[in-house]
Amino acid sequence: MSELILGIESSCDETSVAVVKDGKTILSNIVASQIKSHQRFGGVVPEVASRHHVEQITYCIEEALQVAEVRKTDLTAVAVTYGPGLVGALLIGVQAAKAFAWANQLPLIPVNHMAGHIYAACFEQDLQFPLLALVVSGGHTELVYMKEDASYKVIGETRDDAAGEAYDKVGRVMGLSYPGGKEIDRLAHLGEDRYQFPRAMLHEDNLDFSFSGLKSAFINLDHNAKQRGETLSQEDLATSFQASVVEVLVTKTIRAAKNYPVKQLVVAGGVAANQGLREMMQQKVEEQLPETDLIIPSLRLCGDNAAMIAAAGHVEFAQNKLASLGLNACPSLSF
Ligand code: KG4
Ligand code: ZN
Repeated sequence: MSELILGIESSCDETSVAVVKDGKTILSNIVASQIKSHQRFGGVVPEVASRHHVEQITYCIEEALQVAEVRKTDLTAVAVTYGPGLVGALLIGVQAAKAFAWANQLPLIPVNHMAGHIYAACFEQDLQFPLLALVVSGGHTELVYMKEDASYKVIGETRDDAAGEAYDKVGRVMGLSYPGGKEIDRLAHLGEDRYQFPRAMLHEDNLDFSFSGLKSAFINLDHNAKQRGETLSQEDLATSFQASVVEVLVTKTIRAAKNYPVKQLVVAGGVAANQGLREMMQQKVEEQLPETDLIIPSLRLCGDNAAMIAAAGHVEFAQNKLASLGLNACPSLSF
């Protein structure tokens, strides 16, 4: 009989519920985005996010089952994101998952959101270990070494802002609507790399990142230009900013893969949707790591979604890592 896992994700501003068969096949993946409600504030407002999750979660569960054509009694287990993320937002998903698991007598699988991002790659091809993952999202920038399924060792991480956070802050300075990442990526393909932005920690002998200096350099350039009454080209700014982020992410990831030889390299998280990053990573891996398989999830699976949570839940379930109904949200959960 097939294994059917109901995945639930509510760590930030997307309420998502999915049904995944045998950890490989997405039968449904409902994503209710709240972006429009947060745009007028220029970022995610935690209290607004929680309220939306409360409104959406039961509809999303019903819809995920309907689209998958699965009855509650067919399900094997419920997997839920319990961290990291916004505490109020996480609690809605955790509560819904616990209630659903209890009412339907199903095992409850606690899932780390970042592990979910990595396992989104398993919908592209079977994962092989050892594996190295660059996880880049709005809240995190991490290099994670996995010697086997569900084993995570952080070998590098940002010392300040996450890459996605830098994109969104720069987007705000440019007057773009939240989240700015996607629009900067589009503009970056139209301009020239004419501003020399810093590449922090590029030549340091470690696998860490730093993006706050880049953000400040961008803000200063913009501020000084405005003081002089000059208007800088949005396209050139985007191209130069993106060139800096992508060069640092790709260089450090390739260096990590040389220090920690792996069979596969995964790039995951919201920023993995970035075209510039996808192209440069592809090119450098082909040139410098011809033996390594590069896997980047399809665009719809880079952002937050519950199919990736069900996929990570599948490997946790195989190792019998279950939670009791006492499971709580863990906003600063790490690997
Ligand atoms: O993984 P995600 O959906 O949520 C978190 O777990 O944080 O990532 C959201 C982040 C945002 O910062 C957003 O601007 C960024 O991913 N993002 C992008 C692109 N699409 C989304 N950043 C750069 N280029 C993109 N195409
Ligand atoms: Zn995420």
